[in-house]
Amino acid sequence: MGDRKQKPVLLSGIQPSGNLMVGNYFGAIKNWVTLQGQYDCLFPLVDLHAITVRQNPAELRARCYDFLALYIACGIDPDQNTVFVQSHVPAHAQLAWILNCFTYMGELNRMHQFKEKASRSEQNISAGLFDYPVLMAADILLYDTKLVPVGDDQKQHLELTRDLASRFNARYGDVFTIPEPFVPDVGGRIMSLQEPLKKMSKSDTDPNNYIALLDDADTVRRKIKRAVTDSGCSAAYDESRPGIANLVVILSCVTGESYGAIEERFAGKGYRRFKQELADAVTAFLKPLQKRYRAIRGDEKAMETMLRHGAEQARDRARPMLENIHNVLGFIPEI
Ligand code: TRP
Repeated sequence: MGDRKQKPVLLSGIQPSGNLMVGNYFGAIKNWVTLQGQYDCLFPLVDLHAITVRQNPAELRARCYDFLALYIACGIDPDQNTVFVQSHVPAHAQLAWILNCFTYMGELNRMHQFKEKASRSEQNISAGLFDYPVLMAADILLYDTKLVPVGDDQKQHLELTRDLASRFNARYGDVFTIPEPFVPDVGGRIMSLQEPLKKMSKSDTDPNNYIALLDDADTVRRKIKRAVTDSGCSAAYDESRPGIANLVVILSCVTGESYGAIEERFAGKGYRRFKQELADAVTAFLKPLQKRYRAIRGDEKAMETMLRHGAEQARDRARPMLENIHNVLGFIPEI
């Protein structure tokens, strides 16, 4: 922990909604595990973001514990990184308010994700959903974050974060570090099992579209069996056949084999056989992870201790930044 100050800060949040699934692991968490030694990493569970749509309270609470236990089962070290629950650090909401006063309605109106989410549920769209990117900007800017690993869907939010930081700095001096997107060069994108032109999503209303990290062997088998393919018989990574290409990506992710090796191994063998082997490989990959998860999740006291430490660390780190912001804005310091 002593050398933390020298390392660039990297921050990435996941919403505790839906079920953590293989796309989250191979697209994000696995990369975090390799980055955790090189960067000063913060991994908030962004529960304030999750309530931009209605959540069942008991489920939300359980899910936060589930996600935390899964992070650790995946190899995130809670001693080496700052892992915490966003709502435990009030500075996120406080900075979000301040940044709201520097954000134009027009900017938020242009956010693709808002437009998309709002078009899906036209009724009762909350101001929170509209404001979601500003809270995300606060998450990032509070900690002098240099790098933010983001998928394509979050690039626009990061651009907004950079604009807000520059706008604020132009008026008040060098308050914020301008963050950059961090695009790791690993792994293919994992797509939905039934709609392989869409990214696999942990919040998909149809769980058959994703393989959850906690799915058992039967569930994995059933979901893969139902996955969309085509009328061919040779598994291959071919963009004109997105269903089977996606399954090849998944197999390559869980076994480490190259697409070429997979294509060779399954040439002419038929999709049925390929899917059986894929299901076995996915299950073999998930089993040890699930075992570690159960051991961690079973000890809620230990998890509470982790959460307390994470929150204390994050609060300590956020405090001087928020004080400086209050100061440059002209607020009277707390007495
Ligand atoms: N909006 C992000 C997503 O849906 C989650 C998120 C919230 C986030 N705050 C963040 C990601 C800060 C990176 C940095 O994926």
